Amino acid sequence: MIYLDNSATTKPHPEVLESFLQVSSRFFANPSSIHQLGGETEKLLIQSKQQAAKLLAVHEEEIIFTSGGTEGNNIAMKGIALEHQGRGKHIITSEIEHPSVFEACKSLESLGFEITYLPVNQNGVVSVEDVRQAIRNDTILISIMHVNNEIGSIQPIQEIGQLAKNYPKLFFHVDHVQGLGKIPLTLANSGIDLCTMSGHKIHGVKGTGILYIRKGIKLCPLFHGGEQERNIRSGTENLAGAVAFVKALRFIKNREATEATKLQQMQQFLRNELQSIPAVMMNSPEDGAPHIMNFSIPGLKPEVMIHTLGKQGIFISTKSACSSKDLDESRIIKACGYNQARAKSALRVSLSYDNTIEELKTFLHTLKEALLQLSDVMER
Ligand SMILES: Cc1ncc(COP(=O)(O)O)c(C=O)c1O
Repeated sequence: MIYLDNSATTKPHPEVLESFLQVSSRFFANPSSIHQLGGETEKLLIQSKQQAAKLLAVHEEEIIFTSGGTEGNNIAMKGIALEHQGRGKHIITSEIEHPSVFEACKSLESLGFEITYLPVNQNGVVSVEDVRQAIRNDTILISIMHVNNEIGSIQPIQEIGQLAKNYPKLFFHVDHVQGLGKIPLTLANSGIDLCTMSGHKIHGVKGTGILYIRKGIKLCPLFHGGEQERNIRSGTENLAGAVAFVKALRFIKNREATEATKLQQMQQFLRNELQSIPAVMMNSPEDGAPHIMNFSIPGLKPEVMIHTLGKQGIFISTKSACSSKDLDESRIIKACGYNQARAKSALRVSLSYDNTIEELKTFLHTLKEALLQLSDVMER
């Protein structure tokens, strides 16, 4: 099997699974229980939070364990919007956000919030100047993703953070789900107020994640209940998930520090080879993230190629996993200004540190053979 769909999800690391299993069976007590077993569990939860905070260079009270990216994005966006709507109902985001931000914005629109969707250039990048110009007196939130999940474009988060610092009354949220472990992002003193991360994109287990909330920021909780996680996320804590997340975070941070070049080399190889295929049009920008390569084969339905490759044990994807069953055009490729033929035929190869150049060679060889075979079903 050659797995090249790592932006959809990654294979859990065996040691992460081992920790999950061990904690699930040994520390099963409820951390809120006041008996000794509950006390031990609570201690481990606090320890996990301290470790996560250390790895992210933030304070432990700024960490909320969540079930992943969708939940983190929704808590951040709706939590800020509902809590601070008295001050204004204007939110700024981009046209290329993941559905968990984009649809959260749509839902806030139906509640009377006004959303500015900033355009991107052909490289899929928003302009800091556009962000500046969009800020109004009633703006309460800016939400811009770090790395785009379809094409890998990297947004100028640091610059937007610096800009946001000049407006102490508005909050800046970053969806860091695709950037985590691939493109470093500083949280402390960066102007970032909230930041979403997901465990299953970094070889962790599904249903785990972290939402960073800068100290002192108030959010309206989406779940009401037992007041766990500083009353921001009620519900019995997933301790095994938290421990597993922290382990996955430690591993990926280590690989980010030591194996970045390997990922870049694989990406460069892939880009050079794909560019030499006449039917292929590259959609990912040259200076994008090293793990995402998006390209179109206009005239060919992406699902046909995905199934052809899949039969040979090679797994790639189209658009993002969350929308890959909905096979029409890509909202992101359209936003970059490309035509419909290109937006309807996009394929995504997404790498992990575990992939190899040999695997990419096999993928490229099989892709070229498939293109020859499929040439008669291609629309021209
Ligand atoms: C950029 C981005 N944000 C959010 C999410 C949602 O994360 P999760 O699957 O953990 O809910 C994804 C998942 O594809 C993503 O790529």
